[in-house]
Order: sequence, then C-alpha cells, then structure tokens
Amino acid sequence: MQLLPDAPESALLDLVERIQQEPPYSYKPGEIRPAADWFPPLVEKSHVALVATAGSRPVGYCVSLPVVTYGKLNDLLSQLAIEPETTEYLAELAVDSSVRRQGIASAVLDRMRELLPPTTTTVLLRTLTENTTAIAFYQRHGYQVVDGVQQVWNGRQRLFLTRRNRS
Ligand SMILES: CC(C)(COP(=O)(O)OP(=O)(O)OC[C@H]1O[C@@H](n2cnc3c(N)ncnc32)[C@H](O)[C@@H]1OP(=O)(O)O)[C@@H](O)C(=O)NCCC(=O)NCCS
Repeated sequence: MQLLPDAPESALLDLVERIQQEPPYSYKPGEIRPAADWFPPLVEKSHVALVATAGSRPVGYCVSLPVVTYGKLNDLLSQLAIEPETTEYLAELAVDSSVRRQGIASAVLDRMRELLPPTTTTVLLRTLTENTTAIAFYQRHGYQVVDGVQQVWNGRQRLFLTRRNRS
C-alpha cells in the first residue's frame, strides 16, 4: 500500500469510475458526475488518502476527511449522535472486484485509523442500505449502524455507521 500521490493518476480514477458503475452502485455512465470531477477535490480536502496497489496497479483506496470539512451532512449532524469537531468522515473505501476477500480493505481501514488525528473520537461513514457486503465488513471492524437516520444521496437510499475511535 502506498500514500496517494497529490494528483490522482488516471489508473486510480479509472478504478473509482469502474467501482461506481459496478454493483452495488451500478450507476450508468453520465448518471452521476465523473470521478475526475469529484475525486481529486475530495482528496485535496482529506486528512487521509490511501491507495492499495498490486505492482503499479491501484486495487483499492480510501479517503477520509473531517465531517465538518465534508460539509454535506450538516443537516444530519445533530441526529447522528457525534461530536462534529472530532469526527472523521470516511467518504470513500473500495477495492477492485477482482481482488476482494483478500484483506485489502481491512488493511486500508486499519492504516487509515492509525493516521487519523489523535483527537478523533468517531469515524462516520455512509453506505447504501442494500450494501449488505459493506455493512457486514464494517460491522466486523467494530462499526455500528446508526438507528433511524438515513439519507438519499445520488439517488440511492443510504444509512450511516459509526465507530468510536478512542474513549
Ligand atoms: C466492502 C469492500 C470494501 C470490502 O473489501 P475487501 O477487500 O473484499 O474486504 P476484506 O477482504 O478486507 O474483508 C474483511 C472481512 O469483511 C467481511 N466481508 C468482506 N466482504 C464480504 C462479503 N461479500 N460478504 C460478507 N462479509 C464480507 C468478512 O468478514 C471479511 O473477512 P473474511 O474474508 O475473513 O470472511 C468491497 O467489497 C468493495 O469495494 N465493495 C464495493 C464498494 C463498497 O461497497 N464500498 C464500501 C461502501 S462505503
């Protein structure tokens, strides 16, 4: 695994785009903004951006940033039972479908937590309500579904999970 370079390379953007077009997202080309539009600015604002590579090929990535910097959940912050100032938002985590169930996402997630500011109290994330694979994965890693809070984002119903980082 290596740290994401400042300017994401096209192979990484291709992976991000492919992830959006494959299940469980299955967005059609043009249905949402292309990765080249939103992924680099997200990385720019991030605390932690990691890419997992196999040789020179990117096979996984994660991006996290302070939830207040993300800024698109402000309406929900009071319902999520978090301290916004010390909460990190895991905006992106995905692994190439050809290399799943090999521990790559687990390694990326563990490294991400190591790199968070020590003041971080909570990691928050949002995923599709039907993404049972991701929900099982996060629960295995100590995340809990936030009861009663959902959001439609990019046309799909999402739920939230949180993990207390340090008590
Ligand atoms: C969710 C995702 C990131 C997991 O990546 P991964 O590299 O396959 O995960 P790991 O190999 O580290 O899995 C660790 C554990 O998570 C659980 N898990 C992972 N995939 C699972 C699946 N399909 N079904 C059930 N549990 C699963 C298992 O407990 C697994 O451990 P095991 O293989 O020893 O049983 C990957 O499936 C993915 O990229 N999905 C599409 C994008 C996405 O949904 N991202 C998250 C949304 S925020």
